[in-house]
Amino acid sequence: MTIKAILFDAYGTLFDVYSVKERCEQHFQGKGEDISRTWREKQLEYCFLTQILQKYEPFDQLTEKALKASLAIHGAEGSEKECADLMKEYEQLRPFEETEEVLKQLKGKQTFIYSNGTRGMLDPLIKNNGFQDLIGALSADEIRQYKPSPASYSYAMEKLGLDKAEILFVSSNQWDIAGASSFGFRTAWINRTGEPVSALGFEPASICSDLKGLLEEKY
Ligand code: LAC
Repeated sequence: MTIKAILFDAYGTLFDVYSVKERCEQHFQGKGEDISRTWREKQLEYCFLTQILQKYEPFDQLTEKALKASLAIHGAEGSEKECADLMKEYEQLRPFEETEEVLKQLKGKQTFIYSNGTRGMLDPLIKNNGFQDLIGALSADEIRQYKPSPASYSYAMEKLGLDKAEILFVSSNQWDIAGASSFGFRTAWINRTGEPVSALGFEPASICSDLKGLLEEKY
């Protein structure tokens, strides 16, 4: 079947979370790299844990809890103001250098961000980058079931009103690719860092080093 819609993960796929690291370094000299890495690790850990426990909490709340855990782990005392400033960074992440051009080239397809981030996180991010006319947004928060749960991908498919085989799912996160592949979407893994394919299985239909690789595929 022809691909009629393309769903994109947000963080690390369309938008570079690196600017979060820069902000962390400004606030906590010498600890920025460690704090931002642990922050992302804890953000995902809390997301998966609350999904398995079926004790949903919105992604913005989990992201703030993950930040505070990371600061404590790295012995950094963050004031409420500093935490608020770092959380704000998630609304103004820089897109990767190829993001805008690739989204423009894909205009013939329906394109949406599909993220665990809440709309309160995604809408300002899209607006601050001027992408309102380039891409829509769907959030797992609308069904309170996080990716990579099957229910989360099923929700996105129902919202689009398409068959699984008509949807391409694009992510830089292998856990997201495993979930979407296992659910039945066609998948493209944006492997920016050259990491090995997961031993878990559920491999992607295609692997690209950045989003431009999507333009070479026939959908
Ligand atoms: C997203 C984060 C979790 O869903 O990568 O956009």
